Amino acid sequence: MEDELLLMLPGPVPLPERVRAVMARQAINHRGAEFGNAYADIVRVLKGLFGTKNNPLVISGSGTAGMEAAVANFGKGRKMAHLINGKFGERMYTIGQRYASEARPIESDWGTPLNLESLKSALEDGCEVVTMVHNETSAGILNPAGEVGKICRKYDALFIMDGVTSIGGDQVLADDWGVDVAVVGSQKCLAAPAGLAAVSVSDRAWDRAVKNPPYYLDLPAYKKNAAKDPMETPYTPAVPLFLALREACLIIEEEGVDKRIARHHRMAGAVRKAVHAWGIDMFPKTDSLHQYSNTVTAACIPAGSNDKDFRGVVKKLGIQIAGGQDHLKDKIFRIGHMGAVSAPELLATLAATEYAVRKTGHQVLESGVMAAAEDLG
Ligand SMILES: Cc1ncc(COP(=O)(O)O)c(C=O)c1O
Repeated sequence: MEDELLLMLPGPVPLPERVRAVMARQAINHRGAEFGNAYADIVRVLKGLFGTKNNPLVISGSGTAGMEAAVANFGKGRKMAHLINGKFGERMYTIGQRYASEARPIESDWGTPLNLESLKSALEDGCEVVTMVHNETSAGILNPAGEVGKICRKYDALFIMDGVTSIGGDQVLADDWGVDVAVVGSQKCLAAPAGLAAVSVSDRAWDRAVKNPPYYLDLPAYKKNAAKDPMETPYTPAVPLFLALREACLIIEEEGVDKRIARHHRMAGAVRKAVHAWGIDMFPKTDSLHQYSNTVTAACIPAGSNDKDFRGVVKKLGIQIAGGQDHLKDKIFRIGHMGAVSAPELLATLAATEYAVRKTGHQVLESGVMAAAEDLG
């Protein structure tokens, strides 16, 4: 559609027609079987995406509400350690500063590997709760959740993982990795509208839940209400968003989790091939534990250009990609490849981006669109 931008952002993402359609219906009672069944469908599908036997709890609020619920219910009054290599790691730390008895930042430059040796020192020093962002959206880096989970277990610390832009798009094995609390947001890999977060909680974490949680984000209250038949939430939920998330989950179930993850890996591989063909540097610095994200690719804006001009060219062609946040503005651009998109959207995006790369005067080595098409075809 001429007047609709194709959103190739790391959220929000384009919504499938079926997801949009269910939001147009008449109101339903949220204390009844129809709502309870929708909630149950969501939980059934999300469990598979989180890689957990536990039932995720759905909160009316964006991903940040899920992050805050995790920290407030399990970190309040405790010593927390926050692994940081991007904006959302920083956000976890900022939330920790509101709730923890001591919030300790373990900082790396954005897009560079986490400092796991400093994490061990913090745990030896008595930190009881650790936060980590699995897929650091601001920098396009995938952090080693399994490794961090092992370290947390060794020191008997709780592990809170922000899976906001990995769950539903990349492999997440919360139980196997020792993740105690995992969080996802609706408008990212799940391809649902913005406004809901889901949080899974291990038995170990429930045993250590704080005695004075916040009122609206009281996770034990969410658990108690979700155990009712039909399932409920403690307070009036965003019902149209629940219905939309349910439809998005049914679409995910129809595709199959393994196929969905493979599709995301294929798209990410194709974008990396294109970036390589353009002769542009990827932004993150990877190592044996840290990888490029499979849901968002962050690459450097060609020298001599800036964010406004570069992304402006792409936007003029009807496609919105993301820029760098905070100090990375004018330095990087990010292409989201998450949710319901696949080769058609991706190839159009790469064509527009390649045009922007060339327009800035950058001499591409070869066509990134060709390289990606060969990969996807
Ligand atoms: C990794 C990560 N965590 C948390 C958030 C915050 O989610 P929301 O904007 O839905 O509050 C985002 C949003 O981009 C994110 O990418």
